[in-house]
Amino acid sequence: MRLLGKREPDVYGTETLEEVETRVGETAASLGAAVEFFQSNHEGDIVDKIGDAIGEYDGIVINPAAFTHTSVAIRDAVAAVDIPTIEVHLSNIHSREEFRKSSVTAPACVGQICGFGILGYEMAVRVLAKERVPAGK
Ligand code: DQA
Repeated sequence: MRLLGKREPDVYGTETLEEVETRVGETAASLGAAVEFFQSNHEGDIVDKIGDAIGEYDGIVINPAAFTHTSVAIRDAVAAVDIPTIEVHLSNIHSREEFRKSSVTAPACVGQICGFGILGYEMAVRVLAKERVPAGK
């Protein structure tokens, strides 16, 4: 969400999207990897972006935000592209409201990182850049 940094800072932190991009970009560069960022509030645009990732990217780090809890479309897109995908949440979704505890999208991913703020994105990039992830995920 573009409001990152202003939105519920006690839950999501005060770093802006631009600061996240700078930090994650630096982490990737230190690992010899390159990252591209994409943000949209529109489910269909996210589905399109995932579909377009085939042949373009070696991995996907995704924070589906509120779509996490509802979007079969994003889940199916992740499953369809056969690119290792890691789901990240800034907050610990398991310690919050009941409706946040279930992720529709995580089962299509190789794993989920949540509760570590923007460090979660860096952790995910580290995994994708350095570690083996199961084939077909
Ligand atoms: C979030 C958690 C979701 O439940 C919420 O709807 C968000 C942010 C997170 O990063 O903690 O928009 O994905």
